[in-house]
Amino acid sequence: IKKIGVLTSGGDSPGMNAAIRAVVRACAYYNVECVGIYRGYQGMIEGDFKAMGPRDVKNIINKGGTILKTARSKEFMTPEGRKIAHDNLKASGVDSLVVIGGDGSFTGAEIFNEEFGFSVIGIPGTIDNDIFGTSHTLGYDTALNTVVEAIDKIRDTANSHNRLFFVEVMGRDAGHIALNAGIGAGAEEILIPEEAFGLDRLVDSLKKSKESGKTSSIVVVSEGDKIGKNVFELKDYVEENMPEYDVRVSVLGHMQRGGAPSCFDRVLASRLGVKAVESLLEGKSNYMVGLQYDKITLTPLEQAIKGQSEIDLELVKVSDIVSS
Ligand code: F6P
Repeated sequence: IKKIGVLTSGGDSPGMNAAIRAVVRACAYYNVECVGIYRGYQGMIEGDFKAMGPRDVKNIINKGGTILKTARSKEFMTPEGRKIAHDNLKASGVDSLVVIGGDGSFTGAEIFNEEFGFSVIGIPGTIDNDIFGTSHTLGYDTALNTVVEAIDKIRDTANSHNRLFFVEVMGRDAGHIALNAGIGAGAEEILIPEEAFGLDRLVDSLKKSKESGKTSSIVVVSEGDKIGKNVFELKDYVEENMPEYDVRVSVLGHMQRGGAPSCFDRVLASRLGVKAVESLLEGKSNYMVGLQYDKITLTPLEQAIKGQSEIDLELVKVSDIVSS
């Protein structure tokens, strides 16, 4: 291994910059060249590369987003696109890759490895925490803190007006953000895709909340929730069936993807970045580096993509108990 390429791909997440920094500096530490690839796989196809040394990544550990930019490349999904990307890497002398992204990015990395025998290591970077083989993906902890802070603020106004708020959070098909931030922010109800909740139970629970003397309520709704109604339809439904409630909706949206990474994400990014480079230098390929029981581990990319990052159902019970 002589020259490692690093890229960020898919949805950005806080901590990606800290991971880039760790990769670049680990390369310098081990005397390997490092090349930053802009806009993920799209930049690979366009040959958008830049040699990177330790000073190129100064003052970024605390920055959200990704200095390498990111993209979801349609062209890379085609064999022709991947061939061009491979030719560009070869021409630049890049012999291995660190891919920072989510399962879509890992799928691309795996195919690339299969087709060209190219050495790849993945670093899980997504706020959704939906990757098997790591208890935390990069950006998840920061997103949780962002959501909790936002809901705390919503609660202030909900309380003042005796209102019910439906707060929609991201997470794609996974309820990790909703469940954990919901508990952290003291939500009355949390709707996640992994648990069939049902409208009747929601109405029941809201009735009980009122009877128990609660004057305001927060219901956190995961964007992938399977209740069959979006947050605005939920608002209409509750207003029709429970006119005693004054309901508002807040969709937190992309603010959940931004902001300075938490200390946890910065440390995790540093550990994962170093391990990714060390793994390549040890001749390992087609793995994802992740965090399990506070140790940095390697999981085959295929498992990371196909496996389920399961929700802790114990947390659902905890939420029910503490929100009563
Ligand atoms: O995967 C991260 C994520 O923010 C999801 O939570 C969300 O569903 C999606 O990306 C939004 O994608 P886009 O930025 O393309 O709208």
